[in-house]
Amino acid sequence: MKAVICTKYGPPEVLQIQDVPKPIPKDNQILVKIVATAVNSGDVRVRALDVKGFMKTVMRLVLGFSKPRKPILGTVFAGIVEQTGKNVSSFKIADEVYGVTGFKFGTYAAYIAVSDKSVVVKKPTNATFEEAAAICFGGQTAYYFLEKANVSKKANSKILIYGATGAVGTAAIQIAKYHQAEVTAVCSEQGQEVVKDLGADKIILYNKEDFTKTAEKFDVIFDAVGKITKRQCGHLLNHGGIFKSVEGFDMASEDIKQLEFLRELFEKGKYKATIDKTYSINEIVAAHRYVDIGRKKGNVVIKIGE
Ligand SMILES: NC(=O)c1ccc[n+]([C@@H]2O[C@H](COP(=O)([O-])OP(=O)(O)OC[C@H]3O[C@@H](n4cnc5c(N)ncnc54)[C@H](OP(=O)(O)O)[C@@H]3O)[C@@H](O)[C@H]2O)c1
Repeated sequence: MKAVICTKYGPPEVLQIQDVPKPIPKDNQILVKIVATAVNSGDVRVRALDVKGFMKTVMRLVLGFSKPRKPILGTVFAGIVEQTGKNVSSFKIADEVYGVTGFKFGTYAAYIAVSDKSVVVKKPTNATFEEAAAICFGGQTAYYFLEKANVSKKANSKILIYGATGAVGTAAIQIAKYHQAEVTAVCSEQGQEVVKDLGADKIILYNKEDFTKTAEKFDVIFDAVGKITKRQCGHLLNHGGIFKSVEGFDMASEDIKQLEFLRELFEKGKYKATIDKTYSINEIVAAHRYVDIGRKKGNVVIKIGE
């Protein structure tokens, strides 16, 4: 089968399309024919080993010393169940599914075999495969951090989302709005139409206005791009307010509940897949070059096959 192999850590050109053996599902696994995946900020970070200081050594120990031990990168997929292991009862052939593999990677490929108990569920019925692949990474990360900030438990909270136009930011706006929060989105001029379309109540353009000087106060400040600190903006928090950031040691963990939540929202028409660009698997290097720039609006999708 066709797969993208990360031959070593480095620039996008280290990625090569190769022919590798098609996985054979074990008794507890399903074989998914992947229709779409996405290039996420986490993927380019792993490919380039783009972490600071001692974390580089930690990442080499975790991922592989000079190249990823798991050479097929990619952590999200949407596709069709082609085969089921003999102990699998929760999925059947032809089910349309979407899932997240996290540190197991492996989704830049025509097929993947995953446990039926892993983070894989039926995809939203009204989503295309491209949309389903697009909503996983940002959706599950935003869900994780907003839950930690208790956004689902407090109606009408006021939340400021800094870096509202990335995969995580666009997801956070929609999840916060679903929980009836009043959302102030901080983004560049190029992103304002995107955040308006997703339901942001107020917009601060960071290239025109210093958001730390706003007179408003917030119950939650969520830095969805890891570019600000609590020290910079803590004075904007109400008493008991919470600051969360994607930067730091707190790693969003993925689970089935998050994907089921996103499916429910998508099917209710309360969640959109913000897709900036779509590439074919043959254009993986170009897709990585684009995501490397760090200015994508929402998500970059890779079409693999149908
Ligand atoms: N801790 C975790 O578990 C976890 C999980 C997932 C992701 N992350 C991290 O979260 C960050 C965001 O991820 P992502 O996938 O959403 O990234 P992304 O989609 O690549 O984010 C790109 C967006 O960020 C905006 N941006 C760039 N610089 C900005 C700045 N200085 N101020 C405000 N906005 C800025 C860009 O818009 P403009 O250039 O137009 O402003 C662009 O829309 C990454 O650093 C990623 O590593 C952490």
